[in-house]
Amino acid sequence: MYTDLQGKTVVITGASTGIGKAMALRFGQEKANVVINYIREDKTLEQLVQDIESAGGKAIAVQGDVTREEDVKALVAAADKSFGSLDVYINNAGVENEVDSDELSLHDWNKVINVNLTGAFLGSREAIHYMLDKGIKGSIINMSSVHEQIPWPHFVHYAASKGGIKMLTETLALEFAPKGIRVNGIGPGAINTPINAAKFADPKAKADVVSMIPMGYIGAPEEIAAVAAWLASKEASYVTGITLFADGGMTKYPSFMGGRG
Ligand code: NAI
Repeated sequence: MYTDLQGKTVVITGASTGIGKAMALRFGQEKANVVINYIREDKTLEQLVQDIESAGGKAIAVQGDVTREEDVKALVAAADKSFGSLDVYINNAGVENEVDSDELSLHDWNKVINVNLTGAFLGSREAIHYMLDKGIKGSIINMSSVHEQIPWPHFVHYAASKGGIKMLTETLALEFAPKGIRVNGIGPGAINTPINAAKFADPKAKADVVSMIPMGYIGAPEEIAAVAAWLASKEASYVTGITLFADGGMTKYPSFMGGRG
């Protein structure tokens, strides 16, 4: 555990499921104040708030769509109203859908870019604005993917959004480093969450994915939450502008593992 996260206020978007939920729980265990953003009502939310509180943290759940400017402003306002601060803002909400790129509709393109990239821009902007105003040397964490680096046929909108996240992260890191605000990305590989549920339900598709992971297994959301806790803590005080890949080696050219290329 990182003692400096105790009492810090952390906003996490898309936090009712998957990686976001695991991060919410982890920050709860760190005894932080957690603002759980969700878009759809979910009967497990109440339990999540309770779990965070029994771990020693505090939590509120706030509905909102990260693509809507007023909802994002309301998230920051909710953190301030309930906890009087905002120290860490995690742009986690994300969507994807598989479609041949020559058949991809403008609607689907816009949807993925809006949630994954524009939502992260809006969240970063509002959080940084608040931090500058209050003189907080805070931390922004953007959920990227191995697909900020690895091209992904049939998911061109998703890969483009994560490529955009890389530059969003690096540019904001440079711009706000003098103010002590750190901006970093996390690049998960394949993680066992609802976004992949349909794919991993098919044993062949799952085995194909595992074959691309040198460590030989699909990651757990808690393994990404651990990275987020570290990046947010003072242990990472000199780290800004990176994407920390947590991918079991997926970005390291696994086809070369035999040494013969
Ligand atoms: P997930 O589907 O459980 O989580 C995504 C969350 O975003 C959901 O709770 C969803 O309701 C929420 N969301 C969608 N649109 C929203 C909006 N407009 N406003 C607010 N919330 C919205 O899937 P997972 O895996 O936990 O995804 C979290 C992040 O991790 C995403 O950014 C995803 O791209 C990224 N990621 C996931 C990987 C994986 O293998 N699971 C790999 C690499 C990156």
